[in-house]
Amino acid sequence: MAQRLTPDFPVPAHVAVIMDGNGRWAGRSGLLRARGHEEGAAAVRDVTEAAAEWGIRHLTLYAFSAENWQRPAAEIGVLMKLLRRYLREERRTLLEHGVRLRALGRLADLPADVRELLAESEQATAGGERCTLRLGLSYGGRQEICDAVVRIAEDVAAGRLSPGELTPGMIAARLYDPGMPDPDLIIRTGGEVRLSNFLLWQSSYAEMHFTPVLWPDFRRGHLLEALQDYHRRVRRFGRVPESDPAVR
Ligand code: IPE
Ligand code: IPE
Ligand code: MG
Repeated sequence: MAQRLTPDFPVPAHVAVIMDGNGRWAGRSGLLRARGHEEGAAAVRDVTEAAAEWGIRHLTLYAFSAENWQRPAAEIGVLMKLLRRYLREERRTLLEHGVRLRALGRLADLPADVRELLAESEQATAGGERCTLRLGLSYGGRQEICDAVVRIAEDVAAGRLSPGELTPGMIAARLYDPGMPDPDLIIRTGGEVRLSNFLLWQSSYAEMHFTPVLWPDFRRGHLLEALQDYHRRVRRFGRVPESDPAVR
């Protein structure tokens, strides 16, 4: 009998994924980049379902960066079309798995009908209690921090806040989703070793897992490998671990 794929150790509360490598996946087989993006949807489904089943409370997927607007209009069109399809077709599966959907980013930049579909999906899945799935859409970490700084400047100008009182917590409270905990683990597929403007503020103590697997090939087995890698890490947060024998 095939072994059931499931972690036998505590899972992190928040896993975030930079879903990269769709274009290369397609190119490898002589297909158009659009096919790679299309195949990426199967990976999104499997990883989301596994996250909900395994008790990962927060899953954040980087789907479209603020910088991705610089891609050819035709590719952006394909990505928006696939996003519409995903939002229409996956709503039921999300509901069945107790997944609450939220969007993270400069949503005003998205086409109006996509914004509407997002709002409908967010509303329909608001009761999902197993896992919160956040999609990074028109998301940029620097833009997010900049937007928070604008709100702080407004509070200062209006006399609601004095500059000397500013704390990191006040900045965190003005990010796109203040209810989102910092990611414990950030996974990047596709072999590049960089953040590409993802969760810059929130990633300060995240563990990083980089894999050469291209996103359309990524499945729950790869997620399990990343969780195993995470489980072996010692998170110190700047402190000395209490188990250190040299501490007296
Ligand atoms: C990730 O795949 C999807 C998006 C960034 C929207 P890419 O489209 O970046 O694929 P590669 O990196 O070119 O292979
Ligand atoms: C990062 O991938 C953005 C997303 C996965 C949505 P990119 O392919 O856009 O990143 P770079 O350009 O290689 O840094
Ligand atoms: Mg890429």
